[in-house]
Amino acid sequence: MNAIEVKGLTKTYRKGFLRRRVDAVHDIDFEVLQGEAFGFLGPNGAGKTTTMRILMGLIAPTAGTARILGHEIPSRKARQRLGFLPEAPYFYDYLSVSELLDFTGRLFGQGAADRAKRSDELIELVGLRDARDSALKSYSKGMLQRAGIAQALMNDPDLVVFDEPMSGLDPIGRKDVRDIILDLKEQGKTVFFSSHILSDVESVADRIAIIVRGHIHDVGRLRDIVSAQVGTEVVFDVRELDDATESKLRDLAVKVRHHDGELTAMLGPKSDVDSFVRRGFDVGAKLISVSPVHETLEDVFVRAANDGEQRAKVREEEEALS
Ligand SMILES: Nc1ncnc2c1ncn2[C@@H]1O[C@H](COP(=O)(O)OP(=O)(O)O)[C@@H](O)[C@H]1O
Ligand SMILES: [Mg+2]
Repeated sequence: MNAIEVKGLTKTYRKGFLRRRVDAVHDIDFEVLQGEAFGFLGPNGAGKTTTMRILMGLIAPTAGTARILGHEIPSRKARQRLGFLPEAPYFYDYLSVSELLDFTGRLFGQGAADRAKRSDELIELVGLRDARDSALKSYSKGMLQRAGIAQALMNDPDLVVFDEPMSGLDPIGRKDVRDIILDLKEQGKTVFFSSHILSDVESVADRIAIIVRGHIHDVGRLRDIVSAQVGTEVVFDVRELDDATESKLRDLAVKVRHHDGELTAMLGPKSDVDSFVRRGFDVGAKLISVSPVHETLEDVFVRAANDGEQRAKVREEEEALS
């Protein structure tokens, strides 16, 4: 059984005075395996929050189905074993984090001793010990985010769904959230989290889905999605060369950087590396290194966004014609 199964999920909103149709998510399919950290990656407005809200049973899909922990959504049973951190969580200002957790524990029907123990552990885990009795209104954005994470974990869920858990956090806060996700995974839990920031996903996700404009562009292991070789980097020691000779090398490369007597040339994916290296030898440069250059996740993202733009343009043109 998969932790999450999504099939043909679509959510259409009507927007503005003209009731223009907006497909917030369009016919998406993906699966989250048990025990993995799955990153849901896409720019703002891509449809991440909409998808998560559908999975949580907070809004109904226009079409399609989804199962969570084996239960068709919306499911009360699944809800018991789920933890959810909404985007920009809002809490009652005058509550403290320990009161918030106690309240959450009551909703799940936990006894007083259980609640106290669990809440102590979680306050420790998210690093809010010193602020445990202060009102949430005195919390910074990062502290509220931690309180939200603690609340999502109060029922010791098998599956946690975090909507942009790193957003609004400083680099240390982001690292803390990454560590919490890894820790949850180590405990055998499934983590499904969204982000619009590549580096947040890169370091913790076993697999990712890239969503752009409501369409899933790619699902898979990070390594597979970013493995394409986009070129070759050749570095020469050019201290002995004059500028005119050096420029013969520059002509053959897509991009060239000169720093500290070293010339770093980026060659395109189809360029002839052998003849470039030979040309270097011929003009008297010393070869330092030749290495393949792989696409970064950043590149994939830009490509997905461009594809998305194209698709949207075609759709708009089709709609204008019909
Ligand atoms: N309640 C709503 N009414 C109308 N449009 C909405 C609503 N919620 C989201 N949208 C639109 O759906 C798209 C996807 O939004 P969202 O799921 O919030 O994306 P993300 O979380 O990836 O930033 C956006 O174009 C957004 O404006
Ligand atoms: Mg969102």
